[in-house]
Amino acid sequence: MKKNDLQKARTFENKYLPHLSEDDKPRFHIVGGVGWINDPNGFSVYKGEYHLFFQYYPYGVNWNDMHWGHVKTKDFIRWERLPCALAPDQSYDKDGCFSGGAVELPDGRHLIIYTGVKNIRRSNGVVESYQTQCIATGDGVNYTKYENNPVIDAQTLPEGGSELDFRDPKIWEEDGKFYLVVGNRAADGSGSILLYESENAFDWKYVSTVASCHNQFGSMWECPDFFELDGKHVLLTSPQDMYSMGLEFHPGHSTLCIIGDFDRNINHLIRKNVHAVDYGTDFYAMQTVKTLDGRRVMIGWMQSWETCGCKLKNLPYFGQMSLPRELSIRDGRLIQNPVREIENYRSVKVGYHNIVISDETHLQGVSGRFIDMTVTVRSSNVNKPYRYFKISVAKDGERVTTIRHKPENNTIRVDRSCSGFPHDIVNVRDFPIFSHDELKIRIILDRFSLEIFVNDGEQAASFVIYTPITADSVSFNADGTAIIDVEKYDLVV
Ligand code: FRU
Repeated sequence: MKKNDLQKARTFENKYLPHLSEDDKPRFHIVGGVGWINDPNGFSVYKGEYHLFFQYYPYGVNWNDMHWGHVKTKDFIRWERLPCALAPDQSYDKDGCFSGGAVELPDGRHLIIYTGVKNIRRSNGVVESYQTQCIATGDGVNYTKYENNPVIDAQTLPEGGSELDFRDPKIWEEDGKFYLVVGNRAADGSGSILLYESENAFDWKYVSTVASCHNQFGSMWECPDFFELDGKHVLLTSPQDMYSMGLEFHPGHSTLCIIGDFDRNINHLIRKNVHAVDYGTDFYAMQTVKTLDGRRVMIGWMQSWETCGCKLKNLPYFGQMSLPRELSIRDGRLIQNPVREIENYRSVKVGYHNIVISDETHLQGVSGRFIDMTVTVRSSNVNKPYRYFKISVAKDGERVTTIRHKPENNTIRVDRSCSGFPHDIVNVRDFPIFSHDELKIRIILDRFSLEIFVNDGEQAASFVIYTPITADSVSFNADGTAIIDVEKYDLVV
């Protein structure tokens, strides 16, 4: 028997998934339920539903031979689990079915394109990992690998392109033709994003290099996505080995959004604006889908490679996805807001207006660990303006996660030092925000996570927290005087 067999993965899922307790799950964020998950893959519309696959190792909570797990949804909030879709069981993908995309074919099949990984041990003992792009087609549940795999290999690469770092194709259809972008490591040792085209989604031709890192933003660029949005072109990618740049980019595995104009004569993105996608500790490898009603919705792996050794004991799985976010462009920036469908799951509205905060304040009815809460804060112009304003969530006597605004340098600091981690990891993140007359912070809590959206989506920041669910209190505090409005809903899914 092969080391990794699809049937074996499905049998394993059938045995263990039904035993997953509701208390071990977030309510509306995707988790693997068993094993390990990382990047979202194949985010696509198929037969009127949204499918999402993910990098997946069913048998343990650490990264290992990559399979593709599978879920689908009609509204991005309630997800239906489907059987494991791909296992690394062929000679060309025996060491992993890495990230990729999916598209619906005109003949009604669902096509997956992913990176097949094959390790070869050299005579000096070094293992090299060869990466090619491979296809599987199916009916939304069962997928068959294409007999002529791989469909894109190193021979198609531009001069100097690496056959070892050549991964994560994201496919789309446009005017009856198929396109994909894929990450590659160029001759200068850093990332480049390559564009390919195809008439039928099986036979591919290299077109151009859409964008290059030139060792400016990290090294290898992983998991690219490329699309038109509000009259601009957007390239999203996840750089490895980023050095910090002020408070904009944190070191390590980071996220990058390049907004520009696509010059169709040379098939190159003319860069206009560059910024981070998410300012939290846990967000990577994001991917988008164009919805049936024309929105662009993005989802990310809500985790960090740097902290994935930090596990909650007794939880039978590791990793979760972010809440899907609607994208738009405003003032040259990528705007992200939770998908509007989340509003269908709001219940018990609690609202407050013009509350004066100058020391620790709890508001009746404002608490919970499954909440959607928007806090709008203004400095008092009668009393002393605030030097900082702080929201504390997931709080009890010992534990707390704080979100603090400091107007002096206009930053937000999220501190999860007391959020259930017995690990010395990155617990504090500061990021700069833009000035407005008032500051609006939307907070989504779903048991194991905190996501915040600042000023109607100008910035987003995602954090994993492991705080016990009983820590559900919320409070507000200020040094000086802050005036706040609060609108809070419970989320019941
Ligand atoms: C990004 C990534 C991808 C790769 C996958 C492997 O997180 O490294 O580049 O395809 O994970 O699981």
